[in-house]
Amino acid sequence: MNLVNVKKITLRKLEFSDCQRMIDLVNNKNITKNLLDRFPIPFTFKHAHRFIENTKTSQSATVFGIEYKGEYVGNIELMHGQDVYRKGAIIGYFIGEEYWNKGIASAAVKMMVDYGFKYLDFVKISALVFDKNIASQKVLEKAGFKVEGIFRKAVFKNEEYLNEIHYAVFSEDIV
Ligand SMILES: CC(C)(COP(=O)(O)OP(=O)(O)OC[C@H]1O[C@@H](n2cnc3c(N)ncnc32)[C@H](O)[C@@H]1OP(=O)(O)O)[C@@H](O)C(=O)NCCC(=O)NCCS
Repeated sequence: MNLVNVKKITLRKLEFSDCQRMIDLVNNKNITKNLLDRFPIPFTFKHAHRFIENTKTSQSATVFGIEYKGEYVGNIELMHGQDVYRKGAIIGYFIGEEYWNKGIASAAVKMMVDYGFKYLDFVKISALVFDKNIASQKVLEKAGFKVEGIFRKAVFKNEEYLNEIHYAVFSEDIV
């Protein structure tokens, strides 16, 4: 299913034909410094292919490519909670740097949250953000997420400890 919104933003399944563009977008320290280490530099064809392959088979995540005006510009995913956490999910996303500050992530996060509540039956969607990542915090706050807590030195990234802010939004908050 494709989800389209008025700003010409579409969420759609990833295809193997997205591999090269994903490699171009992810091989950027300004992107990877704010992501899990499963997005390393260099981000190779093997990484991209395996990532897309997993989206086709995994039951534990829902992943979409983000299109802006018909171009693939980034990814967004919900990692499904397991066991007693199964009514919750954790959202993750990136947008290629050349497309930043056009409102794309803000729109995509709202669409993904609506999708998670409406079609995947989650009641809570969380986001874990490194405290220096102000752009992502703004995106989340615009989508209705609220801070639940700050976890000091929760992250060890690029040889540095980082504090992490936990955000969440609940299905009952979204009308
Ligand atoms: C975070 C990210 C997804 C934002 O994507 P985007 O499409 O540019 O986001 P939007 O345009 O919807 O909104 C960005 C907001 O942050 C603001 N912003 C951007 N850089 C900023 C900075 N350095 N300091 C303060 N605000 C900043 C923008 O002005 C905008 O706010 P506004 O709408 O109130 O003006 C993108 O920067 C990215 O992919 N970063 C690397 C990966 C990442 O951080 N993923 C999220 C992990 S939790």
